[in-house]
Amino acid sequence: MQIRQTNQEFNFDKYPNFKQDIDPKQRAWIEVKGKAIEANVRQLKSKLNESCQFMAVVKADGYGHDAKLVSEYAFRGGASQLGVATLKEGIKLRSSGVKKPILILGNLYTKKDLVISFKNDLMPTISSIRECLICNNIGKHFGLKFSLHLKVDTGMSRLGFECNKFVQQFEKIKSFDNILIEGIYSHLSSADELNSLDSKSTTNLQRKKFQKLLNEINFDRNKNIKTHLANSAGMLLDKSFHFDMVRVGLSMYGYNPLPIIDNNLLLKPALFLKAKVAFIRIIDQGVSVSYGGKFVSSRKTKLAVLSIGYADGVPRNLSGKINVIHNNNFYPQVGSITMDQMMVDITDSNEVKVGSTMTLLGSDGDKKISPLDWARESNTIPWEILCSFKNRLPKVKVD
Ligand SMILES: Cc1ncc(COP(=O)(O)O)c(C=O)c1O
Repeated sequence: MQIRQTNQEFNFDKYPNFKQDIDPKQRAWIEVKGKAIEANVRQLKSKLNESCQFMAVVKADGYGHDAKLVSEYAFRGGASQLGVATLKEGIKLRSSGVKKPILILGNLYTKKDLVISFKNDLMPTISSIRECLICNNIGKHFGLKFSLHLKVDTGMSRLGFECNKFVQQFEKIKSFDNILIEGIYSHLSSADELNSLDSKSTTNLQRKKFQKLLNEINFDRNKNIKTHLANSAGMLLDKSFHFDMVRVGLSMYGYNPLPIIDNNLLLKPALFLKAKVAFIRIIDQGVSVSYGGKFVSSRKTKLAVLSIGYADGVPRNLSGKINVIHNNNFYPQVGSITMDQMMVDITDSNEVKVGSTMTLLGSDGDKKISPLDWARESNTIPWEILCSFKNRLPKVKVD
């Protein structure tokens, strides 16, 4: 092999033990505890009636955890279906061997995409007669029935048939011979914002609208059509939101979107974000750290340089606002978080070394840092934190 920089030939055959496979824990990585997901699903399922099904929402690569891994453990915990956002996410799960039903929660509106969905046995979400017609034609073409879920808009103003037109439209949909309606569903807009009375009434209103609609179409339970409305927060509110199935994301991953409601839940976070200390330096008092010199040391300071940054998905606006954990001790992050690295003040530690592992999210001893903490500090929601992690962070299964 030629080493380009020096233009010298280098014969690796002389070093038979030399391997180029990089340790996934060499720099920064995500650890996923599959068993935590299994336990969370089991616990959440215990809040449902026997007949109510659990759809594990694994879109956005299983909220950054690895959709395949999450699916495997969610099924072990008792989930019976998966929810994804895109055609590609569904196909990836099918090709990795998932046989159970998969619902695409996003919209497919071209014939081509709907054919691909049909061929991969993925159920699309249908929001219009036009989409129904395409599906019916596809079913007819293959001499089969196209399984799908109909969505109605009860207050989100996103996807779904308009509520007040749906009753009439449903009559037409029922006349299509080559579609199989597997489900009718809607989505809650404000269930996880229960701090305000307003959101509670919005959520109840949506439930009532959904129920009224089902009554108006003379919804026939015998037809095996599943009705579903609740996300994590909706499911935790009360049983009246459960219908035939719940679609659960955040709480399955171990985070309670409604901590103000005491559900006796002991959810276990499944994701740990870790990074190695790549370098240690000592700076004098009065020295600035990182871009813009926003942090200036107030004493002689020992800094650990961690090999993780905003290109890995740590929001830059968390600069100076987070801690990391090592051996059951918190250490403050200082200065601007850079693209690939961040600095941490370890002046008070004698045990952090080059190569030590720091925990950014998760727990170490009795210390914990949650995506909910990061979300609060960066003025966003935990969902966004979890979905921001980039592909360059390897995912390592631990149990
Ligand atoms: C249609 C739909 N159902 C269910 C969920 C799961 O929501 P949560 O993560 O709050 O449980 C989502 C997530 O955004 C969604 O878009």
